[in-house]
Amino acid sequence: MSDDKQPDFKTREVHAGVRPDPVTGAILTPIYQSTTYVQESVEQYMEKGYSYSRSGNPTVTALEDRITALEGGAGSACFATGMSATSATMMAFLNAGDHCILSDVVYGGTHRISTKVLSRFGVEFSFVDTSDASNIKEAIKSNTKLIFTETPANPTLKLTDIAAVSEVARAHGIPHVVDNTFLTPYFQRPLELGANVTLHSTTKFMEGHNVTVGGSISADNQEHLDAIKFVRNCLGNNMSPMVAFYTLQGIKTMSTRLEAQSANARKVAEFLETHSMVERVAYPGLDSFPQKELADRQASGHGSMLWFEVKGGVESGKKLMNTLELWSLAENLGSVESLVTHSVTMTHADMPREERMAAGITDGLVRLSAGLESADDLIIDLKQALDAL
Ligand SMILES: Cc1ncc(COP(=O)(O)O)c(C=O)c1O
Repeated sequence: MSDDKQPDFKTREVHAGVRPDPVTGAILTPIYQSTTYVQESVEQYMEKGYSYSRSGNPTVTALEDRITALEGGAGSACFATGMSATSATMMAFLNAGDHCILSDVVYGGTHRISTKVLSRFGVEFSFVDTSDASNIKEAIKSNTKLIFTETPANPTLKLTDIAAVSEVARAHGIPHVVDNTFLTPYFQRPLELGANVTLHSTTKFMEGHNVTVGGSISADNQEHLDAIKFVRNCLGNNMSPMVAFYTLQGIKTMSTRLEAQSANARKVAEFLETHSMVERVAYPGLDSFPQKELADRQASGHGSMLWFEVKGGVESGKKLMNTLELWSLAENLGSVESLVTHSVTMTHADMPREERMAAGITDGLVRLSAGLESADDLIIDLKQALDAL
């Protein structure tokens, strides 16, 4: 490749972070299934970069280097789950007496770690409608030490203007963390838009095959990265080499999967808009999506997540989900298998109803994660289930 051209995203997602194994020539970075690493001498301690797999592991490093090559920033850190990435990041930035601003719509686990765990350690949380950056400006207090947004948000797909919020955050010297799970760096790169840390449940689109649970963060500077890695080492929630290996394989097809799954999501959304039993459909690629302009401006694709509200309320929704055959009723998203979730009873069950309703997470909200199957088959299955209502 000529010197003046950097490899494109599709090349980086296949090759970055990995070179043939120097000992055997194996094309894939092996699963370094080893607790500890023998040091040549006391003087040469850590010369090869590793001491103990809680602190670092070569297979995990290969994945971290690949994620950095895709998200940008100073470096990345991988975790046992997306939630451990979230909790370690919050713990790195927040002390007792500090205040954190969170998007009013976030993944249920993020709401749970804030309100049920970190609040017990003296951290205060405000859930703010971050779709309007001026709400953040108003919510900032003298002790605000972190702004944490999720966009598109799980499950309503409400968007936050990453550049606008990052500008407010930087003006106040407050780090801005963006959960980028729903779009991946293929469609959206928060660090390029001014955020300080971007975060993933790699369980979703990155690994993409319903094989693992994992998480990652990528930080804009070494200081932020070191602070998060320090907490990871203390908590002991590093990713395992096996999970890193599977994620390295899954990520190679991330852009191809996302393009195909997004195309399926659009077709499904367009079909749902035509069905008489559907009250409302939300997909950022539809003209009817209230934040379509922002979706087009800050991301290069609309993703494979959508939701709809079925007529007849919760009972109808339950019947629909029980009648679907090809769409699996399951809690994950972003995999090659198409999944359907009832957020209220599944992912957001712990959120008080009043708060849920205020955030637009209504009782009848049916969340869909479009997979890689034929769009025609996915639509036929939805049609038979809707017709049966
Ligand atoms: C947007 C988002 N962030 C974080 C998480 C947590 O990730 P994990 O389930 O890998 O812990 C999820 C899980 O559904 C999610 O949807």
